[in-house]
Amino acid sequence: MNRPVTLFGLVIVTCCLSITFALDNGLARTPPMGYDTWNFYHCNYDGETLMKTAKAMKDAGMLELGYEYIYPDDCWEAPERAPDGSLQPNPFKFPHGIKPVIDYIHSLGFKFGIYNCAGTRTCAGFPGSYGHYEQNAQQFADWGVDYIKFDWCNVPFWEFPGWSHEQVAQKLYSDFRDALNKTGRHIVFSMCNGWDPDVYPWRWASDVANLWRTTDDIADSYDVMRDRYEQNILHGSKAGPGHWNNPDMLEVGNGGMTTEEYITHFSLWSIMAAPLVIGTDVTNMTESTKMILTNKEVIDVDQDVLGVQGIRVKSDIAQDVVTKPLANGDVAIVLFSSNGPGVINTTIEQVRMPSYYDVYILRDLWTRQETTIRHFISAYVQGHGVKMYRIRPGKPQDAPPHHVIYFNPSPMMLTESPKRYGASLRIENVGASTMQHVDIQLHTSSQVKVVPLTAMKYDAIHEMEQVEVSWHFEVPSDKYSGSYPVSVTVSYTYPYAPFGAHLSETFNTSIDIPDLVQLGKEGTCHCSSS
Ligand code: GLA
Repeated sequence: MNRPVTLFGLVIVTCCLSITFALDNGLARTPPMGYDTWNFYHCNYDGETLMKTAKAMKDAGMLELGYEYIYPDDCWEAPERAPDGSLQPNPFKFPHGIKPVIDYIHSLGFKFGIYNCAGTRTCAGFPGSYGHYEQNAQQFADWGVDYIKFDWCNVPFWEFPGWSHEQVAQKLYSDFRDALNKTGRHIVFSMCNGWDPDVYPWRWASDVANLWRTTDDIADSYDVMRDRYEQNILHGSKAGPGHWNNPDMLEVGNGGMTTEEYITHFSLWSIMAAPLVIGTDVTNMTESTKMILTNKEVIDVDQDVLGVQGIRVKSDIAQDVVTKPLANGDVAIVLFSSNGPGVINTTIEQVRMPSYYDVYILRDLWTRQETTIRHFISAYVQGHGVKMYRIRPGKPQDAPPHHVIYFNPSPMMLTESPKRYGASLRIENVGASTMQHVDIQLHTSSQVKVVPLTAMKYDAIHEMEQVEVSWHFEVPSDKYSGSYPVSVTVSYTYPYAPFGAHLSETFNTSIDIPDLVQLGKEGTCHCSSS
């Protein structure tokens, strides 16, 4: 007997269809970590390079830190498909085929990834998957591929008249997801279409892919890196376990940024729960590159199982505060000074830490130093730099009081004759105990006469108190130009310091007398040369 389909029946069918066609690989519960050849090698690598990379990462303990997926980006392929339609590796780069390389990488404990493209050709012009999705997905699964980056070049849009790029992207990436599902192998699916300004994957991709690009390609420059951060931070609500925003791979170690800027890059990517995909020559890392890429406490923030992307809670004239709740109740924060140096202020409430505790511990994730606070968080941050803290409840005796030192790095010229300069420094105690026996010492060249204008020793700077100290310096009047180093050391102790230990911080600067002759101001120099 024929029976009409009830609404209830339709609901079941629709619901089951959507379950069948969701990405259900159960992977990437935390942001994927690994290695991609593109940022450093572009097309100049081979199978040997991949194996050496894997070995170097293994030896550096990077696998244990979570860098799990190793993969060639574009250019691993031969220029054409094989006669049976399958993709083939470039025979010069992989003289014994790709399988031995995959097996070696697996044998070290890593997972292996691959690169291909939704269009007819990859971005570098090698065969893409268009028209072969099921065949390619199966071939990758048969090879033992665990991760795929699927790009967006050479898409035949003319075959979809009247469709937007967004609609074509949804269709093609869903088709490829279904092809991956059909293989039965669990393969992380990384979409790479967010660089197309007409595609907005964060709006729709959470049941299509495990990660998607939110930006155009990164480059090894501070300005580009900062721009990728600015874009990616906007989509925080779309990220979560199994589906992540990707502001592109890491440039740490490639030489176009300072160490401070690479620390910023790595901290921002981690607080944003971004995939951490290395893109430098790991067989030849400097100590500072290795120090950055292997900072476990920063990686722990990225990999936290709560899976929340950090959100920006303050953005004032190039000073950002980004906060990320963590699974154990701690909160991670980044204070980012994207232009010049300065003091960034925030509070426990603003960074969304429960505010009913009396005292909190700030753990600096780069220096590993801990300090106490009650309510205010303030820190001097270098230009283009960050401070990254993990915050937990604590007691005053757990650590020294948090304080901020405002030091103007360029002493000001007060008079030209005699050549007199002024400098000052302010210490503010925002910690949860008293700073005691505070001693401020200034060292400079013996040619410079130093005149302290205020006391330089203080028995106590209590909670929420501050002191300001200042000096005059006189430099020899017979000098037309020169540079005199100045260093200021602030040392102190606190009531709970173990064995009365003293802590100290040193600031270095210099008094720079410009070369007036070179500046073309001969007439204005009244200095005698006798
Ligand atoms: C695109 C991607 C890059 C890289 C290149 C390779 O530009 O965004 O990450 O994969 O293609 O050709």
